[in-house]
Amino acid sequence: MRITVNGKLRELICDPLQPLLYLLREELDVTGPKAGCQQGSCGTCTVLVDGEPRRSCLLPSVLADGTEVTTIEGLGDAARLDTLQAAFHHYYGAQCGFCTPGMIMAAHALLERNPSPTRSEIQTALGGHICRCTGYVKILDAIEAVVRGETFDESDRTPHPDPAEHEVAMKGAPA
Ligand code: FES
Ligand code: FES
Repeated sequence: MRITVNGKLRELICDPLQPLLYLLREELDVTGPKAGCQQGSCGTCTVLVDGEPRRSCLLPSVLADGTEVTTIEGLGDAARLDTLQAAFHHYYGAQCGFCTPGMIMAAHALLERNPSPTRSEIQTALGGHICRCTGYVKILDAIEAVVRGETFDESDRTPHPDPAEHEVAMKGAPA
């Protein structure tokens, strides 16, 4: 199959029924989408397929053939966060961070189709995205700040992780 992931064309042979989540994480080493419930109920695995948010744990890879897939890695990276990522950082919208890639991809898709959503519309767009840490208020505050056009300085754009923090590099691990 041929699939464009974060702007890069990838060609590979794979099980057509394998969920896109596993194709991304285990075959393409794109580990931003997280393996949470793996039943379509938590939103951690959300990616954009041709611009639409999809739960990659439920999407057979064959249905992504010929599409453009965007994951959190396609927005910004640790060296330079994009605006939504900086807003989550500034407003403490990410704590453990496990839900964050899915939240941000859903929010990104919302703002692409509606740059001025109400708080209620943001809540609807994030429906079914589960966060065990933040209580959701900070996530909504972060997205509303982007809607207001708030800008973020370098300390939010380029946060410096603790160098002593271990990187999780196990294939198939949920982190
Ligand atoms: S891992 Fe896909 S919705 Fe939970
Ligand atoms: S920040 Fe921990 S699950 Fe949302």
